[in-house]
Amino acid sequence: MCGIVGYVGTQSTVDVLVAGLKRQEYRGYDSAGIAIIANDGTISSAKKAGKLQALVDELAAHPVREGATGIGHTRWATHGAPSDVNAHPHLADDGKLALIHNGIIENFSELRAEMLAAGHDFVSETDTEVAAVLVGHLYRETGDLRAAFARAVIRMHGAFTLLAMHSDEPGLIVAARHNSPLIVGFGDGENFLGSDVAAFVAHTHRAAAVGQDQIVAITSDAVTVTDFAGHSVMLDEFEVAWDASASDKGGWSSFMAKEITENPDAVANTIRGRIDAGLVTIPELAELGDDFLKGISRIIVVACGTASYAGMVGAYAIEQWARIPVDVQLSHEFRYRDPVVDASTLVISISQSGETMDTLMAVKYAQEHGARAISICNSQGATIPRESDAVIYTHAGPEVAVASTKAFVAQITGLYLFALHAARVRETLTHEDLTHNAAELEAVPAKIEQVLTTGSTVAQLAKWMSDTPAVLFLGRNVGYPIALEGALKLKELAYIHSEGFAAGELKHGPIALIDHGQPVFVIVPSPRKSAVIHAKVISNIQEIRARGARVIAIAEQGDAAVLPFADEVIQIPLADPLFEPFLAVIPLQIFAMELAHAKGLDVDQPRNLAKSVTVE
Ligand code: F6R
Repeated sequence: MCGIVGYVGTQSTVDVLVAGLKRQEYRGYDSAGIAIIANDGTISSAKKAGKLQALVDELAAHPVREGATGIGHTRWATHGAPSDVNAHPHLADDGKLALIHNGIIENFSELRAEMLAAGHDFVSETDTEVAAVLVGHLYRETGDLRAAFARAVIRMHGAFTLLAMHSDEPGLIVAARHNSPLIVGFGDGENFLGSDVAAFVAHTHRAAAVGQDQIVAITSDAVTVTDFAGHSVMLDEFEVAWDASASDKGGWSSFMAKEITENPDAVANTIRGRIDAGLVTIPELAELGDDFLKGISRIIVVACGTASYAGMVGAYAIEQWARIPVDVQLSHEFRYRDPVVDASTLVISISQSGETMDTLMAVKYAQEHGARAISICNSQGATIPRESDAVIYTHAGPEVAVASTKAFVAQITGLYLFALHAARVRETLTHEDLTHNAAELEAVPAKIEQVLTTGSTVAQLAKWMSDTPAVLFLGRNVGYPIALEGALKLKELAYIHSEGFAAGELKHGPIALIDHGQPVFVIVPSPRKSAVIHAKVISNIQEIRARGARVIAIAEQGDAAVLPFADEVIQIPLADPLFEPFLAVIPLQIFAMELAHAKGLDVDQPRNLAKSVTVE
């Protein structure tokens, strides 16, 4: 939550900052601002409530003065409503210090009282201004930004990435990280800071993640890092694996439209290099050791939102192939339930951003209680993979639209790869079954391509349904998490009340919701390979049709049994049952996006949301 950018160099600082914010706007979009140490030695700043465009308009009307050092921020409000005055940067020390912040400073009221007692005033309601005033206060005592900053950060509790600069020390930005992300970008005669690499990937591919409780100082030609105790630290540099163009819209009407079409690549790129002679081998799992994999007693998947639904799909494959019991728990529920974990437990965290605070804390909790933890993550150098014992990176490329699409199918791919790797090591599948399932996985991208061709039919359906007040989704087995995901996509994008149910639950309550004309999406399993549950789903369809539901079935090509009972059928290619989720979810992603379009909503930046939930 909140996107941060910092720059010291010779390019137009305004342009670098605004472009860096544009690429990180998915992290928060209720206000934005920049501050620059101008060439005249004073701080020049602008900030505006609303989307980044409001700041861009403000800068066009009232340009800030250029200089070689600047910081920028795009906000998702925590303390204080979105407003011009609560937007970052916040100024202190008579306007000579500017500071931006991502996170929550939990002891802000105590620090605020202390600063008020010391004679300082506040203009905003934010915890961030407290940090600015505190650093400014300590600057007056020390006359040194690094020293003031180091003294300030150890006074703060909670989660924060802070960037500060002072007009008496032009050419320097000091930043700190505690439970919030911070990445450095190394340029040639210029250096960058960002919440993620998107902030600066247009300028450099050389990056390093700043570690927990570390302070980094950048000038145009140096990057120095210490821990909070002042000891020097070396950062591990990595090469950013994607180009700036990957996070551009590239002619599409929205990032989401682009990202849905990238579903096949997300799967293919995640598989690449991990199947050899028909068998899955994930070198990254060597860290765990085969003996550990053989002796695992239980897997707990921790994740939030869409990632948790990917976890639910993956659980079916891990249990079926690797014969390990799997629980899927929402990270925030796991952490506070006093869970039973031990040295034979493997915790698998799933996170696109790798920064979701609840998931990070669940991982730490599990490790502290003796479990091993691996992560499935889409963001290089993010905190969760860094804290895990091993990581299976998904290679979906940057996902900019706030609602997850291609990262979801990549997460399922990562889990299936894990399941096949574990099944090989644990000898729970025959060689023939291992190679068959690996081949099925490799066939998924081409099948998703086929499903994408149903896009215009689904779009038409969405237009017809644009004034529907509620939509229900039903599925069984692996279709159940897909029903949950379809409902989540629709509520977050189109603001329509929608619910996903396990079809077997219908008669235990939800069927009371069925009334004349109620639209219900039903994910129908294959009649060839899941004959028993197929028959049960057909019965469920008949039950809701009898009560007036309008049924939209997502069914396998050639499934004649569904035709008499469905108002609409969206066909998906033939696949083994465990591979149907990859295909069934695509029309649901398109449906939610198109319905939001039809209602004139912003599909990339739905209200009240941010892509990376870095606060609890
Ligand atoms: C919904 C969505 C969210 C995320 C969730 C976890 O479309 O994107 O539900 O899946 O916030 O985020 P990550 O995967 O970054 O941990």
